[in-house]
Amino acid sequence: MQKNVQPASGPFKGEVVVPGDKSISHRAVLFASIAEGESVIRGFLRGQDCLSTMHCMRLLGVEIEDSGQEIRVKGNGKYGLTEPRELLDVGNSGTTIRLLSGILAGQPFSSVLAGDQSIARRPMRRVTGPLKMMNAQIDGREYGNYTPISIRGGGLQAIHYLSPVASAQVKSAILLAGLYAEGKTTVSEPFKSRDHTERMLETFGVSVENGPDYAVVEGGSTLKGTNVDVPGDISSAAFMFTAAAIIKDSDILVKNVGINPTRAGILDVMTRMGVNWTMEREYHLGGEPVADIRVRYAPLKGCTIDGADIPRLIDEIPAIALLATQAEGTTIIKDAQELKVKETNRIDTVVNQLNALGADCRATEDGMIIEGPVTLTGGRADSFHDHRIGMTMALAAAASTAPVLVNGTEAIDVSYPGFFDDLTSLEPS
Ligand code: S3P
Repeated sequence: MQKNVQPASGPFKGEVVVPGDKSISHRAVLFASIAEGESVIRGFLRGQDCLSTMHCMRLLGVEIEDSGQEIRVKGNGKYGLTEPRELLDVGNSGTTIRLLSGILAGQPFSSVLAGDQSIARRPMRRVTGPLKMMNAQIDGREYGNYTPISIRGGGLQAIHYLSPVASAQVKSAILLAGLYAEGKTTVSEPFKSRDHTERMLETFGVSVENGPDYAVVEGGSTLKGTNVDVPGDISSAAFMFTAAAIIKDSDILVKNVGINPTRAGILDVMTRMGVNWTMEREYHLGGEPVADIRVRYAPLKGCTIDGADIPRLIDEIPAIALLATQAEGTTIIKDAQELKVKETNRIDTVVNQLNALGADCRATEDGMIIEGPVTLTGGRADSFHDHRIGMTMALAAAASTAPVLVNGTEAIDVSYPGFFDDLTSLEPS
């Protein structure tokens, strides 16, 4: 699908409630499926990725009802999943394939996981390697690095795994497998990645040690069905923050945003870049901190983003890069090699796509350098089937002097169905 996105006709003003958190929605369905008893999930993100997780769990024998208001999952218990007759199609979703691999490593049956062309290029050894160390039988192209991935699980042993990457998908897969293993499973990371798994397992009655750069679970723990309220996704909110921060005189209130400290790096960067933002209400939802966040336009300045910042804002870098094109001075993003193995190589897609509209960005080995401020002049852009690239380019259009014809806007549904409606609702009528 193509969309000719017009420059903003004036400041963005008003309130918006962004859809449910993608990471938390996946986990809610996965954990509820292996819990004992029923769970009810509210605020679930009905984006393509989370629907893929639901689809896979149904193929594994789990009864899941979606009333439109809430998702009701009849948990099968840890050992109640059944061998799927079909291939488990994860679509575009890295979280589905990696977290589900951890659960399947504990199942004494055979299953095969595959997805779209983007998934076929993304590395799986980071997950299949440690799961094989725990005793699961796993294979795939290049010895289990690429889809299709086949898993025959069961008979797992606990491990102490020192992960070379700060990845919540890796950590979560191993912790989930650890629930099926004998003994204590520990995952240590170079920097703490998002800790939704640790927090939500506690909500499902599993005791987890959630350390500053490690997490521990005890084999044999069982999950008990519960209710989960999913907060709004800060990764989606990031695009609304960016809209307000780059269009003069804007003033937006984004409500119900998850502000888990392992995810909220964008807020620190907004402060460093001079964005005028405030927190209007703080509360807790489903074991996660949440707030309403107001962003008002203010002049921006460049900054450096690196090290421990990166896992706390990895998905927000495309939006931050757009902010940086409108900021005075140089923005340097480094230590972000992980961008190369996202839905696209986001170092290349961000730099090439923004430059095509008149930006001054340079790709580096582990990030990018962005000079600003520049006048974006409109033109053509492509999502390359990457939801966050699609949203970045649509917002770049808002800040441009001429329209941007964005190709592949359907990808945006992966994490933010209703993105264009929300944006339009904030425009002057
Ligand atoms: C996610 C973890 C991150 C993130 C992805 C969702 C999760 O990936 O980029 O969008 O839900 O655990 P990595 O674990 O590969 O860093």
